[in-house]
Amino acid sequence: MQNKLVLGNWKMNGRLAANVALVQAMLADPDINRDGVGIAAPFPYLAQLGQLFAGSPLAVAAQDVSRYASDGAFTGESSAAMLADIGCRYVLIGHSERRQYFGENDACLRDKLQAAVAAGLVPVYCVGETLDERESGRFADVVAEQLKTLDAIAGQEYVVAYEPVWAIGTGRVASIEQIDAAHQLIRDRVLQCHGASASIRVLYGGSVKADNADAILSLASVGGALVGGASLEAKGFGKICQSA
Ligand code: G3P
Repeated sequence: MQNKLVLGNWKMNGRLAANVALVQAMLADPDINRDGVGIAAPFPYLAQLGQLFAGSPLAVAAQDVSRYASDGAFTGESSAAMLADIGCRYVLIGHSERRQYFGENDACLRDKLQAAVAAGLVPVYCVGETLDERESGRFADVVAEQLKTLDAIAGQEYVVAYEPVWAIGTGRVASIEQIDAAHQLIRDRVLQCHGASASIRVLYGGSVKADNADAILSLASVGGALVGGASLEAKGFGKICQSA
């Protein structure tokens, strides 16, 4: 059976020397060094990651991409074509931290999704509700609304990541029942609205750790994990990958 996809998201962390040490430990762990595992690193380290991963099945992912597909006068931007050029396979789009801190809206995310697909990248489209939306019973409506953005790439290959905002970086992981319900809703919506093939994977993200990964990744509705903090340390990340 195909392994579930596990992507680490280093967020805004890393330095050249520390990256070498971490990746060497990852490459030495057969639970990590296999198909279906990747790392999303900050832009400055993507080329280094591509070199360190060379010859291994590990995938390079970017944490964001420009909404502008063509090269040109877009100071500070990194295009999808540039990410593909340096060997990226995946790109996170619409992570809750980018929505929250950088005001990424539906129009911007549609452009990013289309730019990523046009360059041959696999978008990992992030959705998830805030604590207030969860506690007020609006999580399904919020996630359904976020999923509509995928109309921009209907029929293309993509991955969805369900990350309840209140579980990110908090240690407060969603319950198995909450995860299963959300993933079933997402799969149903994606199949119904986008005619997506059953191969669409829905990753769970939000305080995934070595001690909860087995239970989360054993759910049939969970197609893998998007791991933040725990991906910065090889031993714990290896245990999560072992569960996938
Ligand atoms: O993108 C994954 C991230 O948002 C989850 O972070 O530290 O809760 O695993 P963390």
